Amino acid sequence: MRGIAAVRWRTSRLALRAFEEGDEAEFVRVLEVSKERWTPWVPARPEDWSPRDQFRRELHRSAAGAAEGTHLRLGAFLDDGRLAGLFSLNEIVRGVFQNAYAGWSVSGDLIGQGLGTEGVRALLEIAFTPFPAGLGLHRVQANIMPANAPSLRIAEKVGFRREGIAIRYLQIAGVWEDHVTFAVTAEEHEPSSRSPSTAGEPGSSSRSPSTAEERGPSSRSLP
Ligand SMILES: CC(C)(COP(=O)(O)OP(=O)(O)OC[C@H]1O[C@@H](n2cnc3c(N)ncnc32)[C@H](O)[C@@H]1OP(=O)(O)O)[C@@H](O)C(=O)NCCC(=O)NCCS
Repeated sequence: MRGIAAVRWRTSRLALRAFEEGDEAEFVRVLEVSKERWTPWVPARPEDWSPRDQFRRELHRSAAGAAEGTHLRLGAFLDDGRLAGLFSLNEIVRGVFQNAYAGWSVSGDLIGQGLGTEGVRALLEIAFTPFPAGLGLHRVQANIMPANAPSLRIAEKVGFRREGIAIRYLQIAGVWEDHVTFAVTAEEHEPSSRSPSTAGEPGSSSRSPSTAEERGPSSRSLP
């Protein structure tokens, strides 16, 4: 089985790919412009937190997760090189489960343009497309705080099925928050954009980058 590090995906506006060394500036820019929008929905930062350190951690987590086949963490780039968001499939388990937890965040300066929906649709395509273009999973889950209306709307639009409420599920901004749990399986999934991408497409260059946020616990809907 080929490793998942090479998975890339193209939508009408986004090129999704793993972060590279050259992405630091864009990553840092996005974290800075997104701080206000993201803070209520992500784990509290340690006191010595810095966007640059977070980029180093992101590169490490991405490489380690791809090597082990347990995490696919992608930046979504516009054709002009700007980082539009972070999308991930985390805690990938094989065997009889074939499951991952989806996570997503859109850059604070690009919210409200449908990019979150576009990126999450791509995540589901990646999850359910067989190897080697996708991950060939059976189930994708997402967990969203009840007050996060835009994320709940995305889950609904892309075909997640609401399964219930997980009480005090994750510690977000220092508080154990309930989450609405969602899932979609391969049988339910309706394919949308099917376009595994190749190296060299827009967004795959090192023009920029910076990134964004640590999606926090991977078992949640944050990239
Ligand atoms: C959640 C997030 C990814 C949405 O990104 P986005 O690109 O603005 O999302 P989209 O434009 O694709 O879709 C948002 C949908 O929510 C709707 N929406 C926005 N605010 C809303 C509100 N207050 N109440 C109800 N619906 C709302 C929009 O109208 C849109 O639905 P529509 O297409 O039917 O009109 C972005 O706000 C974000 O990164 N937030 C911070 C991090 C985060 O919460 N991550 C997810 C954790 S579970």
